[in-house]
Amino acid sequence: MKKREKKNLKILVTGGAGFIGAHLSNSLIASGHKVLIVDALRSQGGIPFINKKSKFIKGDITEKKIIGKIKKWKPEIIYHLAAQSAVEPAYDDPKFDILTNSYGTYLICNLAKQIKVKKFIYTSSVAVYGNKKHRTIEENTVIDPDSIYGVSKYAGELFVKQVLKKTSTKTIIFRLFNTYGPGENLNNQKKGMISIYTSYLWKNKPLVIKGSLKRFRDFVFIEDCINVLTKAIKIRSSKHEIINLSFGDNYTVKNVIKLIAKTFGKKNYKYRISQGTPGDSFGFHASGKKLKKMFNIKSFTKLSAGLPKYFKWVKKVPNKGKIEKFHPLNLV
Ligand SMILES: NC(=O)c1ccc[n+]([C@@H]2O[C@H](COP(=O)([O-])OP(=O)(O)OC[C@H]3O[C@@H](n4cnc5c(N)ncnc54)[C@H](O)[C@@H]3O)[C@@H](O)[C@H]2O)c1
Repeated sequence: MKKREKKNLKILVTGGAGFIGAHLSNSLIASGHKVLIVDALRSQGGIPFINKKSKFIKGDITEKKIIGKIKKWKPEIIYHLAAQSAVEPAYDDPKFDILTNSYGTYLICNLAKQIKVKKFIYTSSVAVYGNKKHRTIEENTVIDPDSIYGVSKYAGELFVKQVLKKTSTKTIIFRLFNTYGPGENLNNQKKGMISIYTSYLWKNKPLVIKGSLKRFRDFVFIEDCINVLTKAIKIRSSKHEIINLSFGDNYTVKNVIKLIAKTFGKKNYKYRISQGTPGDSFGFHASGKKLKKMFNIKSFTKLSAGLPKYFKWVKKVPNKGKIEKFHPLNLV
């Protein structure tokens, strides 16, 4: 007989108030699970949002008392998203980046080991690969981060593997690519390529492109990312999996800004090129082969279909004053 999927699992989402974490917590709660969000509310990427149906602990994952509180709640599954989540800000505060992404991940892994968590899902980053101008990235492509963020996220990966290898906990590391969509903080111009470029149009200002127009990226719409992350609980997986969370929707910066401006309805947009930012990779592109096969995915949302959905939300957000109330999950 087919085993029934347990509906009301106790799930911890660290970083559950951030861009991806808020959407993920929402999806898990909608699927009938009990969610504990632990978040220090210092998001780089998202407008902070805490689902009212979750249990929320405000705090830093590197603090002993916070780890103690999680231990008491005893989650069965852990999604570990809490992170200094962007390349550029790591150079402003490397200590926070390294402490949260490496030591913080080590502590959460140790906790998972102690309480015998069933599955541990970690959101790593394409940044671990570093510049891969000339080849399509697969999961076994050489790791060679060229930013502080890439190094600290990779240290996190190594702790997931090392701390949990001799336990019964299954581990999945997703290497996320550029994920965009409603809920990103349009006032933050240091994280999220699509969000940064959109923010200039939203503020009626000329775009500033930091670095070459020839750089290229894969883009993933937030709904697709959340579908995969949510399904990861029940997906059949081996003891330790590494999966690139990308379907290979690849664009140069030049084409991205053209498409953004056209879709936003700004035909006569202006832009200027400024110096690149530290740690910024020239380009990366994945095949998405493993993801497609494991999750039986036939297609992802193309940028040309994701942008109109994203802009529908952007246009509801006033471009002056506080935007917290305008989180997409507040507007539904
Ligand atoms: N958004 C992307 O395109 C992308 C790409 C690659 C990897 N990732 C990874 O996905 C995860 C989520 O990214 P996001 O875009 O939602 O970022 P985000 O900045 O919006 O969310 C991260 C959350 O973690 C919290 N946090 C940070 N440090 C903490 C600490 N020490 N203790 C407790 N909470 C803390 C923040 O307050 C924030 O709410 C991160 O692990 C990031 O590295 C994201």
